[in-house]
Amino acid sequence: MDAPFILSLISRWAHVGTAIVLVGGTAFYRLAVIPALEGNSTDLVERIRNRWKKVVHLGILIFLVSGFYNYFTMIPKHKGDGLYHALLGTKIMLAMFVFFIASALVGKKSGTQKFRDDAKKWTGIMLIVAAVIVGISGFVKVRPGPAAAAVTQPSE
Ligand code: HEM
Repeated sequence: MDAPFILSLISRWAHVGTAIVLVGGTAFYRLAVIPALEGNSTDLVERIRNRWKKVVHLGILIFLVSGFYNYFTMIPKHKGDGLYHALLGTKIMLAMFVFFIASALVGKKSGTQKFRDDAKKWTGIMLIVAAVIVGISGFVKVRPGPAAAAVTQPSE
């Protein structure tokens, strides 16, 4: 049975909206905030991190709930489509890596201090991996494949 339309719509809005806020916010931090504050007030950096932390934690939660909901509603449409599941599996693992780095950058634990000490490098890596994630997400959506063929070439 197909998932209710309204739930699928809300889930997509939430997922793509979260990607816009989190990836956009990270790009702003890396390209504008870090260079502007270099060598400056660590207290200000601390306050920015503390505010951004709430957005990161809520964003990860929304990504996980909407992402798994999207995935489970997509499974019936991609039965036997190995490439779809391989790409989605890769994307989910890359997303877990991004969630770990994002949490470490706003965290306080001493074990993750090395990421905060080199925030410029790690936010850059996060942006590159996020671009790959968005690339995979767009590719699986538009690529011609079994699901698209089933829609465009109905069986006789
Ligand atoms: C850094 C984290 C993530 C980013 C930036 C991201 C980004 C996106 C974007 C932009 C789309 C929409 C693609 C389009 O409609 O053109 C999408 C779709 C999707 N995402 Fe994510 N996502 C992330 C994490 C996750 C996670 C953790 C999951 C699963 C647990 C997930 C599962 C999905 C699924 C199933 C779709 C729909 C794919 C399809 O159309 O068949 N995403 N994602």
